[in-house]
Amino acid sequence: MVAEVTLMDRTKSIALLNQAVADELQAVLQYMYFHFHLDDQGFSPLAALFKRIAIQEMGHLEALAERILFLKGDVEMNPAGPVEKITEPEAIVEKAKAMEADGVRMYNEAALDCSANADAVSKQLFERLVGDEEMHYDQFDKQHDNIKRFGLSYLALQSFQAGGEAPGGEA
Ligand SMILES: [Fe+2]
Ligand SMILES: [Fe+2]
Repeated sequence: MVAEVTLMDRTKSIALLNQAVADELQAVLQYMYFHFHLDDQGFSPLAALFKRIAIQEMGHLEALAERILFLKGDVEMNPAGPVEKITEPEAIVEKAKAMEADGVRMYNEAALDCSANADAVSKQLFERLVGDEEMHYDQFDKQHDNIKRFGLSYLALQSFQAGGEAPGGEA
């Protein structure tokens, strides 16, 4: 009789990965909501930053989904929470910073849990996401600092400068 080889507790990893999927989905929806509203208010560079980061969060979602399927689980496509209808620019960046900080904390914990569960590959994935979310936090923090120092005129000036650049220069 051949003993079944058990590499790890797959269900534990799958649950952690799906929790992260839910958070990434919520981030994609929330950041696109911010993108539309900032664009509508004429703050194009900040609006573009939110779209770029939303796309990166979608990439995270994809990496998590691939790992879940590899572990023979299924992907739960349910956002962790509803989109908050925040439209004021400073409140937007504050919310985004809080979401990234939560992500960093959660993924650090998930990496430790995966390590305890002998799932080194999921651990590495979570560690990579921690690095990305820290970068996102830093980008939002810089915007927040400038808004605090110079007010909304900073965002307006940023839009004016972006608009004055040669066409085709900015994606
Ligand atoms: Fe993410
Ligand atoms: Fe992020």
